[in-house]
Amino acid sequence: MPSVVEELRKREAKVLSTSYVRPYPFVPRRGEGAWLEDVEGRRYLDFMGGIAVNTTGYAHPRVLAAAREQMERFVHVCFSDFTHEPLVSLAERLVAKLGGGYRVYFGNSGTEAIEAAIKLVRYHTRRPYLLAFTGAFHGRTLGSLSLTASNARYRAGFAPLLPGVVHVPFPSPSHPPFGVAPERAGEAVLAHLEHLFSTKLPPEEVAAFFVEPIQGEGGYLLPAPGFFAELKKLLERHGILLVADEIQTGAGRTGTFLAMEQEGVRPDLVTLAKGLASGFPLSALLFLEELSSWPPGAHGTTFGGNPVAGAAAHATLDLLEEGLMANARRVGALLLEELTARLAGRPSVREVRGRGLMLAVEFADPGLRDRAVRGAFEAGLLTLPAGPNALRIAPPLVLSEDEARQGAGILEEVVAALG
Ligand SMILES: Cc1ncc(COP(=O)(O)O)c(C=O)c1O
Repeated sequence: MPSVVEELRKREAKVLSTSYVRPYPFVPRRGEGAWLEDVEGRRYLDFMGGIAVNTTGYAHPRVLAAAREQMERFVHVCFSDFTHEPLVSLAERLVAKLGGGYRVYFGNSGTEAIEAAIKLVRYHTRRPYLLAFTGAFHGRTLGSLSLTASNARYRAGFAPLLPGVVHVPFPSPSHPPFGVAPERAGEAVLAHLEHLFSTKLPPEEVAAFFVEPIQGEGGYLLPAPGFFAELKKLLERHGILLVADEIQTGAGRTGTFLAMEQEGVRPDLVTLAKGLASGFPLSALLFLEELSSWPPGAHGTTFGGNPVAGAAAHATLDLLEEGLMANARRVGALLLEELTARLAGRPSVREVRGRGLMLAVEFADPGLRDRAVRGAFEAGLLTLPAGPNALRIAPPLVLSEDEARQGAGILEEVVAALG
């Protein structure tokens, strides 16, 4: 007799779009904290957090209570037309978290926040060009897809995309561009930009540079130390706006509310989504007060700024402030140490890296990585791939030290079995 999992997979194969990816056959039934149970009663430690979304873990009573309370009042009115308390106070809170001086536009998904950012930087500057990094992931709708360059498969068959997008290499010390030494990755990319500006890309025609502070889908790649502060100075000289896409890195994941705080950079625009409302769909674009040039109706959405998602975001921010962000720092550091001690030096492992609870194990090749993701699943640990060779770790920020050690122990056994 086929299992419940096999049965469901057979049914979905008949009715669902073939674009859905299934890295392994996991079918959830319920979750609590950092744990998920599947439909056949197996328990899994969750090191993927619904792709870095489930900030407060599963079934957090404070998040559920906030959402339930708001649902009893009203679920939807359309924030594009009518204001309401949960979202105005959420905007006030987000602006305060970024040190003041910003305005907020709400959407539902990451890609919507990026689309809004593309429209705003073009509208405000009236400049046609956009810069982004090779390896970047900013979403899959046609505007954001034009910035995305982490995997040619995401773009194949969809051209023509938005014209005027120029990609430059990401200054990763793990994969230094232009064949330079790791410690020269940052200056090499800055020199490349200066060269571009003087030879073929007039900087006064560039509206903005979209950046991920740590590349996510591209492979959990850290930037060269100090790079973003230097980049900001260079962009300022040319009136080019810096858009920090913190959709994956933001909402406390790396141990500070924004990853850019650790770079000492105040971006002109910031996008947030994923972890902002603990799994309820909500995204936010924050932009500096002086960029506020849209007249009413210039941009809008029916569902964006849902009050139930807003209530969940308030509860998420409360919990981040009360200790989850500190937990991401503390348990993230412990997990990085554990993984490094247990995995670094193994022939199949190239590097262990990350910040806060945004960590990765990079393997020597994609085949080894895929076997590790699959092996972890079979041993009761949920992870996901990122980039060509990395296994990413983005657990709920409620992860305890014991759970971190437990997960690291599973990965140690899985990697040992790879030889
Ligand atoms: C950095 C970054 N930007 C944008 C997106 C797109 O977000 P969404 O899938 O919610 O549209 C993602 C999703 O993985 C992301 O990681």
